[in-house]
Amino acid sequence: MKSKLRKRSTAFCFTLVFFGLAILPAIETSSLTDYSLPSPIDVDMILEESIFRRMSVREFTGEPVTDEELSTILWAAYGLRDDGKRTVSAIDGIHAAVIYVLKEDAAYTYDALNHSLILYKEGDYRDIVGWQYSAPIQLGLCWNTDKTDICYAGAELGEIGQNIHFMANALNLGTVVTAQGPDPAIEPLGLPDNEEGMIVMPLGHPKYPYNFIDKPRWISLLPRIQYSDVSLSTAIQEREESTSWNGELTKQEQTQLIWASYGYSYFLDDSNNTIGRLDRHRTVPSAHGYYPLQMYVVTESGIYLYFPNFYNPVYGLLRGIWNLPVVTFLMKIKNGDYREDVAQASSNPSIASAPLLIISVLDVDKTIRWDDLSGMLHIWYYEAGASAQNILLEAAAWDLSGNIEFPSDVAAIRSLFKLNDDFVPLFIVPVGR
Ligand SMILES: Cc1cc2nc3c(=O)[nH]c(=O)nc-3n(C[C@H](O)[C@H](O)[C@H](O)COP(=O)(O)O)c2cc1C
Repeated sequence: MKSKLRKRSTAFCFTLVFFGLAILPAIETSSLTDYSLPSPIDVDMILEESIFRRMSVREFTGEPVTDEELSTILWAAYGLRDDGKRTVSAIDGIHAAVIYVLKEDAAYTYDALNHSLILYKEGDYRDIVGWQYSAPIQLGLCWNTDKTDICYAGAELGEIGQNIHFMANALNLGTVVTAQGPDPAIEPLGLPDNEEGMIVMPLGHPKYPYNFIDKPRWISLLPRIQYSDVSLSTAIQEREESTSWNGELTKQEQTQLIWASYGYSYFLDDSNNTIGRLDRHRTVPSAHGYYPLQMYVVTESGIYLYFPNFYNPVYGLLRGIWNLPVVTFLMKIKNGDYREDVAQASSNPSIASAPLLIISVLDVDKTIRWDDLSGMLHIWYYEAGASAQNILLEAAAWDLSGNIEFPSDVAAIRSLFKLNDDFVPLFIVPVGR
């Protein structure tokens, strides 16, 4: 009897060991979990250089993006700074963005509080969601519909996209903003009911390494853009919002801020120059390269319209003539101090104390050139958010602070700038000390 029992228990033990050995590894290899990201790298590229280098990259090598690089880009995108604030300004006081990180093994969401990736769904969704351009990582920029509306969400994603662009580029990685309609490309992933996708950004090593030629060719009464001594990481850490200001700005400071909002790079891009044409990129991307925003500048001395350049090299006839200089200026449209008028037509009357107000206005006619994008107001808010983010970063680099306010009385702003209903004022960015 005893020996029968011993035999049975030995057989049972063998069975346990066998199944344990056979099954456990199978369970282990398929069980993905959340994971902490390493600390972000402190990127010391000077802010203005990273703005000069901003450009879209659409072809990538198979080389993986390291966790350290991903950590740095996600922190810049939407992480928490040393002071506990986010790396981008809240639009109307609300942070509503959600970032999905699509890797080969699974889809994750970025958790800023713990600087970690939370497992969302196992499986490789990169080529479905990022169908436009295949890359080792795809970032899905989404928003929480319980928290804000699609236009303000677009603006916050514009701020985030800009930090992703700058940081990726500074790490010699590349990315491009892609926004697909009518259905957001991230839908096959199956988002929660209260989330919607807007933008997908592939991320990887550029197939054609960056190759820039420093050729400003700057023809203007405005001073030349100067390098500050502040790095990209520091500018992101030190971006500051204020609600009241005092003091003046120098002409140099004003020019730096206005240029950051919508200007042209000093660099010519020779990275993938197969047809002998060099591109001069702008400080923000634009859907279809339309660049339909106008920047109005209001100071103590008057109201001005900013001309970033005489021509648009992306779709203009003159695109191929790279030798053309950047001809940039401010055209005065009204004499006198109208800051109080703008302040009264805005969400915050105290902005009248700011020495500089930069107001982004959408020219709807410029959104319908060869493909009518006038119905997609949120992508123009994306562009205005990207522009506002640039101004706030540039302000930080020059020890200034700003904010993002809204026109509460659109008709009053239009009448001040002598505009008809085809122009939509989007944001007012006050800057000062
Ligand atoms: C909201 C938005 C949507 C865009 N969508 C796409 C897109 O779907 N596919 C694409 O290849 N580029 C897209 N772009 C990138 C623009 O085509 C690009 O910024 C523009 O041509 C200027 O080129 P650059 O960024 O290299 O200076 C988009 C840009 C923005 C701001």
